[in-house]
Amino acid sequence: MDNKIKLLKQKQAEALLGGGQVRIDSQHKKGKLTARERLHFLMDEGSFQEIGMLVTHRSIDFGMEKENYPGDGVITGYGTINGRLVYAYSQDFTVFGGSLSETHAEKICKIMDLAIKNGAPVVGLNDSGGARIQEGVNSLGGYADIFYRNTMASGVVPQISAIMGPCAGGAVYSPAITDFILMVENTSYMFVTGPNVVKTVTHEIVTSEELGGATTHATKSGVTHFACPNEIAAIQHIKQLLSYMPQNCEDKAPSVAYDIQNETRPVLNTIMPENASQPYDVREIINEVIDADTFLEVHKDFAENIVVGFGRLAGRSIGIVANQPAFLAGVLDIHSSTKGARFVRFCDSFNIPLLVFEDVPGFLPGTDQEWNAIITNGAKLLYAFCEATVPRITVITRKAYGGAYDVMNSKHIGADMNFAWPTAEIAVMGAKGAAEIIFKREINAAENKEAKWKEMEQLYSETFANPYRAAERGFVDEVILPEDTRVKLIHAFKMLENKVVNNPRKKHGNIPL
Ligand code: HXC
Repeated sequence: MDNKIKLLKQKQAEALLGGGQVRIDSQHKKGKLTARERLHFLMDEGSFQEIGMLVTHRSIDFGMEKENYPGDGVITGYGTINGRLVYAYSQDFTVFGGSLSETHAEKICKIMDLAIKNGAPVVGLNDSGGARIQEGVNSLGGYADIFYRNTMASGVVPQISAIMGPCAGGAVYSPAITDFILMVENTSYMFVTGPNVVKTVTHEIVTSEELGGATTHATKSGVTHFACPNEIAAIQHIKQLLSYMPQNCEDKAPSVAYDIQNETRPVLNTIMPENASQPYDVREIINEVIDADTFLEVHKDFAENIVVGFGRLAGRSIGIVANQPAFLAGVLDIHSSTKGARFVRFCDSFNIPLLVFEDVPGFLPGTDQEWNAIITNGAKLLYAFCEATVPRITVITRKAYGGAYDVMNSKHIGADMNFAWPTAEIAVMGAKGAAEIIFKREINAAENKEAKWKEMEQLYSETFANPYRAAERGFVDEVILPEDTRVKLIHAFKMLENKVVNNPRKKHGNIPL
């Protein structure tokens, strides 16, 4: 018996060493944690239960039969994060550079299958040189097995991918299918083809960091939702993100205890600038309206003309979508539409109610936008709101112009409650442009054209640049004092907490991709 126990302990100790101390030291020298250290920081202390510690690869080509490491470059299992069940895998760069073999893929698939069956999130900590080159098509098949499960799990359980090292070739597509991607600045990168291939094919000279580093993907491509300064910060972000999410699509969004007190926020009465074309930072409104220090902004540095993120209102998880007048006047364009649409769909998949702050001058005009399909991309946001069945509330703070009025969670496309501040302007377009079109004849006939234009602009503005026409029609449910926004929203979301809407039965919709 003693010998048998000794053998097991010996095998376990071997597995804990991954690719060996030299490679562990080299990982540390690069400023990176090991796969096990990452799991240690991610999971509640002592909660992680490993599955498949002794799995080894089956490869015999290129002398691989002589090189075998228990675990085969990925640690898989389950544990708890803030007391809630989570499945996780963590790729071990010290074993064949964390590359994906057939058995490595099987281990990941096993925990994904368990996650789907048991209804709990999956967190992937990625640090991998991609397909295990010695295995050829076996490795490619392994990737495809994971992509398939990522897709089957989509909308069933939350999936989060943290990129903590290289992520090249097909390895990028599993994270891309998951709900959120986090990257670590300076030590992680993602690309389909690396700088060498880029140089050969397009003659561009670019570093890995420029091509696919955290900053690049957080600002230019929008591939990553969070760029984190280091691995610990990334792990903290994962925990915070999970705290807003239910375990699966059948669960309600989580709530924390909250005592209602005086919820009036007088400072909101003074946030709006006197001049309607002056910018302000919509985050000031968001932070004043939701519970203090609960805003977790998603995609912070990408398409900054729309702000999206999670927060809590009287303890309840909500998703927030807000036009940002401080950037491009809050106009809707291709990137802001796709950013908003993806966030709305995530929230709707996982029963997280939606709160929209609207101050939008319309869609961005121009050849660049038209030729790159603002029509199709703008329609994504429209479609996402139309199909969402979670409780949905809009607060129109200022401009609600043109098609953007319809798109930004209007009552017509299924919002449950729409509030407007007295500063709201709900019209087909801005007064200046509107006057120029509909009073063209009067303006041209006038002796002082400029003065006539101003007069007509004033007339249009008085008629439409207010919330009252929309309130008369019931398109706005109530015009409220800005200071009462929080109170009104707390009551309205409580009123909507048992909302049930069933869209028509279908296989699945066809969102304009
Ligand atoms: C097998 C690999 C490997 C791989 C790295 N290693 N990548 N082993 N398959 N894909 C091994 C190395 O041999 C080395 O082994 C150890 O991992 C560390 O690698 P280094 O090169 O020393 O580390 P570093 O300098 O940090 O560079 C890391 C790297 C580089 C940038 C990831 O290794 C690299 O470019 N690897 C190949 C990347 C790649 O082309 N992958 C295939 C992509 S195509 P030792 O024994 O020395 O520790 C793909 C298709 C999938 O993924 C398609 C699915 C649809």
